Amino acid sequence: MKKLWGGRFQKSPEKWVDEFGASIEFDQELVEEDIEGSLAHVKMLSKCGIIEQNEAEAIEGGLHALLKKAKNGELSFSSEYEDIHLNLEKLLIDEIGPTGGKLHTGRSRNDQVATDMHLYLRKHTKLIIKEIQELQHILIKKAEKNVETILPGYTHLQRAQPISFAHHLLAYFWMLQRDKERMEESLKRIGLSPLGCGALAGTTFPIDREYSAELLGFDGIYENSLDGVSDRDFILEFLANSSIMMMHLSRFCEEIILWCSEEFKFVELDDTYATGSSMMPQKKNPDMAELIRGKTGRTYGSLMSLLTIMKGMPLAYNKDLQEDKEGMFDTVQTVHGSLKIFAGMIDTMTVNEEKMHQSTKEDFSNATELADYLAKRGMPFREAHEVVGKLVYQCIEKKVYLKDLSLEEYQNASLLFEENLYDELDPHQAVARRISEGGTGFAKVKEAIVKAKKLVDEKEVLDLKTL
Ligand code: ARG
Repeated sequence: MKKLWGGRFQKSPEKWVDEFGASIEFDQELVEEDIEGSLAHVKMLSKCGIIEQNEAEAIEGGLHALLKKAKNGELSFSSEYEDIHLNLEKLLIDEIGPTGGKLHTGRSRNDQVATDMHLYLRKHTKLIIKEIQELQHILIKKAEKNVETILPGYTHLQRAQPISFAHHLLAYFWMLQRDKERMEESLKRIGLSPLGCGALAGTTFPIDREYSAELLGFDGIYENSLDGVSDRDFILEFLANSSIMMMHLSRFCEEIILWCSEEFKFVELDDTYATGSSMMPQKKNPDMAELIRGKTGRTYGSLMSLLTIMKGMPLAYNKDLQEDKEGMFDTVQTVHGSLKIFAGMIDTMTVNEEKMHQSTKEDFSNATELADYLAKRGMPFREAHEVVGKLVYQCIEKKVYLKDLSLEEYQNASLLFEENLYDELDPHQAVARRISEGGTGFAKVKEAIVKAKKLVDEKEVLDLKTL
């Protein structure tokens, strides 16, 4: 079979060489972006007088016919034509005849594939921004219902101080807010057009790069053709942003998995987001949370893989770059899937307020309250810490909690203690008393919810028209 680039060759490559080099099996994912890019390119060629108007119309007609077939799943591709670009060019020539061969004037697959990747990532980044926002809405909704639900807050996975469950949920809201902002900021770089950089050096045809960029809804063009065809920073950035976001989801999943255990029992997942065991009839497993935690690993893998592919690459295009795709597609799919499942899982999970509250009563997470109590009465905090530490030790010895010690025992430790110390020990009061900005006090959490809501509501106007 004659290759589209076969003029210079005396022999055809072996079949397995063809197969090893082909990317059509995975890059067909770019079929729509490739046609979109070609439509802009051909319009530009005709506007600049590089091809005749009637030729451009024939090519556009053919591309639209291919797009329709692509959407209906009617196109069939072959590894003999290596990748999506050569497959589509071959199909176009089959569709409209030799005029189809004019499409590739002033263009190379190198700028073509880079353009496709920019278009693809722009679409998916915008979708992901929207999905993050939907998850943020769900977190706010859950937080609103749980302002006064208290649970132990942990450091070192040791009970530390009681907190509002809404405050815990909102911590993830803010992580996601940063994830969303990172994705938004990356759009600036995703939105540059490499089209017209040619193979590496530009072209002798009088093309108009600004025009094709504008047709594709890009905000600007790559300033340097060598950079334009070989830059994959925008994909690395996407993989890095996705990795950080998946790490956030994974942290929350880890907590949910712990909370579903008999030992915690703070939440129960809806049946639709849990699975059973094939052997143990009693099991209800948080598989979805585990899977998101696990999938975070493959996202990191894709980032490491592309960083490694890029590190030794001389300018400009090298075939190594074909390896940029599968990790990107996989990450796009992983992130969409994880955000969707995670949102549903949080939305439908039952919060066991009773168990959370109970846990705050059976520990020493109110010890700081007592130290603060003494400090407010004039004792240097460091001394107060020591006094309360000794009281905690006394309790551990007697197998009781701080609320169970008598006033006499307290006064033996310090005469600053009075009857009202017992009010300080109530975990609900302990949370309520936290008045500092960004802290877990109920009043502050309510303010935080208003702020968070404002942030996501304003954002609804997100421009999705170039999707
Ligand atoms: N399939 C190739 C890729 O994904 C397209 C560009 C090929 N260019 C070339 N000169 N071989 O990178």
